[in-house]
Amino acid sequence: MTIPPLTNHDKAAPAQGHDGCAPQQVRVYSDAVTAKTQARILLAPMEGVIDHTMRDLLTRLGGVDRCVTEFLRVSQELLPPRVFHRICPELATGGQTAAGVPVYLQLLGGHPQLVAENAARGAELGAPGIDLNFGCPAKTVNRSDGGSVILREPERVHAIVAATRRAVPESVPLSVKIRLGFEDRSQFLEIVAGVEAAGASELVVHARTRNDGYRPPAYWEEIDRARQHCNLPLIANGEIWSVEDAHRARGESGTEDLMLGRGVLCRPDLPRLLRAADLGEHRPALDFEEIRKLLLTYLDITLNHYDPRYATNPIKQWLGYLRYYYPQAAELFTRIKRLRDAETLRTVLQTSDTPHRLAA
Ligand SMILES: Cc1cc2nc3c(=O)[nH]c(=O)nc-3n(C[C@H](O)[C@H](O)[C@H](O)COP(=O)(O)O)c2cc1C
Repeated sequence: MTIPPLTNHDKAAPAQGHDGCAPQQVRVYSDAVTAKTQARILLAPMEGVIDHTMRDLLTRLGGVDRCVTEFLRVSQELLPPRVFHRICPELATGGQTAAGVPVYLQLLGGHPQLVAENAARGAELGAPGIDLNFGCPAKTVNRSDGGSVILREPERVHAIVAATRRAVPESVPLSVKIRLGFEDRSQFLEIVAGVEAAGASELVVHARTRNDGYRPPAYWEEIDRARQHCNLPLIANGEIWSVEDAHRARGESGTEDLMLGRGVLCRPDLPRLLRAADLGEHRPALDFEEIRKLLLTYLDITLNHYDPRYATNPIKQWLGYLRYYYPQAAELFTRIKRLRDAETLRTVLQTSDTPHRLAA
């Protein structure tokens, strides 16, 4: 499946305040698979797409062991606590989503000491873990010395991870996320060795170079190559759209732990389908009627946190992903793409199983 990264997000403006919904107020889907197997399933960070509202919704479905925030860009200073709370409202609820899934705070920057100081502040504010981003391919980010461009200098990757590890209490895990390299894979093993020597707790590998962008395939076998050379827990990421892909990724990478990104936006129950398969169970995939209910729940969550004038945007963005798996989502997107009023959108979502009613 070829899916564009879909980054043209007209992001909703934050509403005033945050109601920090308490776990008991949240309806966790009763049939969610909650049992844990040894293999972990992580939800990938996705800037502009997976914010705290989407994390809340997706983790309610079950199967996700951990999430990551959008990135906190560290370029000049120690950021004030309010910036941490904006990117990670879950700090107000023990660093967990309402369904109880921990959320690591993601930092992006090229200066070891500055990244380290901000990471320490994040830990102090209650982040259950810190995640360092060396994968972002965006030109604007790379030009300002952040993301995948740092992979060109393995020694700097090492310095940033080492400074951060020293600054953050040992009890707070430090995960690192990389690609296979910037232009090519020639420095991949050196980067991995540096991350391990710097004391990272684990390493997520998006199995493509920066120059590969998001073009399939993902080279999962490269993760297996790294595995032969290090003792660091590795997590495989990239191009996992189905339970079958997950099994192939595990086979080729030699790692059981996976991180799933766009596949979960296209199929929100993918983590719990995979978890069920890991437990030797079979469960049916969500049908579009269930997706429609999820869209309504997502609209409510969005309205709780964002200005209603922008509340239709996240739904449109999500439908942009859902339509790759659910043809009905494409049809629904066509019907709502010009809507700006949240209540009209709600009416369409409520009646979209009977599309002719509105037209009549
Ligand atoms: C819109 C978008 C935003 C992303 N934002 C981040 C980010 O903030 N940090 C990061 O490490 N990776 C980011 N990624 C990369 C994903 O986490 C993941 O590595 C990539 O999409 C490959 O996994 P997938 O094929 O399962 O989607 C982003 C990807 C997309 C498409």
